[in-house]
Amino acid sequence: MSRSLVSAVYDQLHRFEAASREQAYPIHKRLRLPEDQDVYDLIARSSAVPAGGLILDAGCGTGFGTMRIAAATGCHAHGISLSAAEVAHAEAHALREGLADQVSFSVASFDDPLDGTYDLVIAVESIKHSTALPQALRRLTDALHPGGALMVVDDVLVGNADQLLIDRIQDSWALFRVYRDSDFQTAIPAQPPITEDLTDLVQRRSRADLWLRTTLLRLASRIRRRNRPVYDIFRAGLDLESLYRVGCMRYHMMSWRR
Ligand SMILES: C[S@@+](CC[C@H](N)C(=O)[O-])C[C@H]1O[C@@H](n2cnc3c(N)ncnc32)[C@H](O)[C@@H]1O
Repeated sequence: MSRSLVSAVYDQLHRFEAASREQAYPIHKRLRLPEDQDVYDLIARSSAVPAGGLILDAGCGTGFGTMRIAAATGCHAHGISLSAAEVAHAEAHALREGLADQVSFSVASFDDPLDGTYDLVIAVESIKHSTALPQALRRLTDALHPGGALMVVDDVLVGNADQLLIDRIQDSWALFRVYRDSDFQTAIPAQPPITEDLTDLVQRRSRADLWLRTTLLRLASRIRRRNRPVYDIFRAGLDLESLYRVGCMRYHMMSWRR
């Protein structure tokens, strides 16, 4: 899957979502956590990153989590994304919030050689876009200072899932493929990740609610053809939820140390 397709997905999503917001906003699941808590807070809590250290947010979206983890840890955080629109949004928001000294952003890919070395590298719902998972994970761990940690949070496929749903997710989100748990466990030879299963924290909708939302999106994309690619992105999110419902998807926080 080419990177221009991935950046097109996020540029389109940004055009649609950011029209009404100036703030940075999360592009990941809302978890069943105490109010105001987010998956980036879980990462900040479980990573022993030294104050004043350097963090890389690989696949940073609009910088929501980059700013959050920088604030929580007192570190400098750099976010990379394939989407120029997201990076411009993140930079503008950081400037408005007076955080431009603590965070920075650039258009770059974790499928390419990376600049710099870090105490902590995080990837929240982004590494699923890698065209070569083992190489990307290796590259991200190679970018760590000795003793540093790579923490990845993502959806992982387990068991035999409905291929129609898998194909729709893959196409709408421009994924090279939908990675399985075993892909992550074996990506770095002799170094399986320490894995925490966060699946119980994922919000669940009823089957009827998923059906209704899917039907409404299908109707909306017939009426507003212009927005169809964005509706397809949302519909793939509902497909993913269906896979969670039948136990074929799990939400894992995985960490590797250097
Ligand atoms: C689902 S969003 C998650 C954004 C952010 N981590 C969050 O949780 O709000 C996925 C992000 O990964 C980025 N991305 C996808 N492939 C990438 C790549 N090869 N290199 C860098 N970023 C990438 C996208 O541009 C997007 O910002």
